[in-house]
Amino acid sequence: MAIVPRRVIAANWKMNGLAADGAKLARDVVAALGGGLASTVVLCPPFTLLQAVRAAIAGTAVALGAQDCHEKASGAFTGSIAAPMLADAGCRYVIVGHSERRHGLAETDALVAAKVTAAWAAGLVPILCVGETLAEREAGRTLAVVGTQLAGSLPGGAGAGPLVVAYEPVWAIGTGRVPTEADIAAVHRFLRGALATARGDGAAIPILYGGSVKADNAAAILAVEDVCGVLVGGASLDAAGFAAIARAAG
Ligand code: PGA
Repeated sequence: MAIVPRRVIAANWKMNGLAADGAKLARDVVAALGGGLASTVVLCPPFTLLQAVRAAIAGTAVALGAQDCHEKASGAFTGSIAAPMLADAGCRYVIVGHSERRHGLAETDALVAAKVTAAWAAGLVPILCVGETLAEREAGRTLAVVGTQLAGSLPGGAGAGPLVVAYEPVWAIGTGRVPTEADIAAVHRFLRGALATARGDGAAIPILYGGSVKADNAAAILAVEDVCGVLVGGASLDAAGFAAIARAAG
């Protein structure tokens, strides 16, 4: 079974990058990171760039991840990518349940749970995203929402595999708005408790924060109790800025 590191700094490039700039970004990230990082750095480019990024990070400690997988291992699912294909392409991680898929593509908790199962079957570590909308936060429902998402997105029964969880408030993604450190701490504490109840190894599962993480707020966010790393979108498209975030994690 894959070993899950304690500190994870993950880059979600989303739907950005063509062959030339994607490979260059990955090479620039490797160069900017330098050596001696205690954290595990994961680059999640779009599917079309997996091979180029795989080549660019070969021989380094940087790991490859994807942004989604289909819940089935193969079959007549035009346009979809299966978890075994991602493993075959060199991925060790896959993001599942990102809010841009939950809300933009109506992915349900049950579908996300099926994707987690598919990732485990392929030997991948799912980075499972949960997060509330602004309306849900303003209605005081944040913990209820993330708790329901987490419970519904974790496959039931035995055979739980390696896992990373990312708390990503929907209203903080790509907006420049970030919850207070106290608010991040409260959600992470809640998720830590929920994971400990759900799984025997719940205390050891890394919980990342994501949503408008930048070089200038990363250190403060990473210092919040129970924050084990960050999932970085927009700021991960700049090698120097992303490397600065990774260095803030140590
Ligand atoms: P952002 O995105 O850093 O651009 O806010 C984070 C994410 O969606 O994972």
